[in-house]
Amino acid sequence: MPKLKFLKAIEILDSRGNPTLQVTAELSDGSRATAAVPSGASTGSHEALELRDGGKRFLGRGVQQAVKNVNEKLAGRLLNKEIKDLKKTDKAMCELDGTANKAKLGANAILGVSLVLAKVLSVSEKKPLYQFLAEHYGFKPDFSKFPRPMFNVINGGLHADSGLSFQEFMLLPTQKDFPEAVRCGAEVFQNLLRLLKSRAASTLVGDEGGFAPKLRSNEEPMQLLAQAIVQAGYVLGKDMELGLDAASTQFLKPNGIYSLALEGKGLSAEQLVALYAEWHEKYHLHLVEDGLAEDDWGNWAMMTKTLGNLKMRVVGDDLFVTDVKRLKQGVEKKAANAILIKVNQIGTLSQTMAAIKYARQHKYQVVISHRSGETCDTTIADLAVAVNADYIKAGSLSRGERLAKYNRLLTIWSEENG
Ligand code: PGA
Ligand code: ZN
Repeated sequence: MPKLKFLKAIEILDSRGNPTLQVTAELSDGSRATAAVPSGASTGSHEALELRDGGKRFLGRGVQQAVKNVNEKLAGRLLNKEIKDLKKTDKAMCELDGTANKAKLGANAILGVSLVLAKVLSVSEKKPLYQFLAEHYGFKPDFSKFPRPMFNVINGGLHADSGLSFQEFMLLPTQKDFPEAVRCGAEVFQNLLRLLKSRAASTLVGDEGGFAPKLRSNEEPMQLLAQAIVQAGYVLGKDMELGLDAASTQFLKPNGIYSLALEGKGLSAEQLVALYAEWHEKYHLHLVEDGLAEDDWGNWAMMTKTLGNLKMRVVGDDLFVTDVKRLKQGVEKKAANAILIKVNQIGTLSQTMAAIKYARQHKYQVVISHRSGETCDTTIADLAVAVNADYIKAGSLSRGERLAKYNRLLTIWSEENG
């Protein structure tokens, strides 16, 4: 068994120009790998802690302390040890941290090491990362069954200054053939560009590569997507369905009312759920993520009953934060029927895998997701294939850090099915 000979983190920049960690590892057999850590903007309050330096540097967002924690504390614990069981190394890091939310060493520090150890072991075993991850964590994936992409082509909420309350308006192609699904998405994206130009609307993009035009209502993006789909020669409901990440914690007011700024009106949880059901009828809205706020447990069950009856996907992101403990509560309360998985919400790959397994055991569908702050690291593409995820959400069909994930999936597809 090879030993860890080299472990080093540095501070790099993410897609928003904010600092994040890149970690490189080398084993005694010469295997070498590098991984980078993503970062969210609309973060759930129950996520593991992302350690930032504060002070003047990078407006307080520096990660020098997290880098130091990797290079001193975590390296001190792991260097010259055999690396063979990632559950053990992840557990050792969590124990060294000693807090429930990784506040001492930082979830960003721990995740950087967790990811790079998986990558370097896959290099050592001469296996593609998706195959290595499947075997190491006991998944038996069917590599001909690929996750369905969710392309976030109109950006709102905290990801753009479009004024939209809802954060992500997504295209969900129905094609089982992954390259066909990507082509279909890209053609609609290009048609959306033309449509916006023809209306003299802005075609600048937001954090996840979707357009961010200033529109009159939160319904207008749904109408635009429906039109772009027709213009591209596809049929809404047959070739393509729609998805929405409301990220609604961001517009819930203390009085329990969800406030839609563009319309100048507030909706109760029931009214908001009724709106999703209406959009299901009108626009083939198939999936709603964070349709209600992260601690609105009682109303989540009501939403899942209503939308579940329409065969819609009700996805918990900030609700579950990739944490088995919160997912267990959700299963007991029948709060949702799908979970969004983000590796940095929980901070280790092993805990991420535990959440995916628990979700599967309880018939929840699995969505593997990027963050709004990304790098060109493509680990989540391999992860999605390894666990046979139902969906992958990696942003729009523009911006290199988003396309890196879809292009990695196209590469894996050609290796397995080409
Ligand atoms: P975030 O957004 O990375 O800013 O949290 C993504 C999401 O809410 O799904
Ligand atoms: Zn979300």
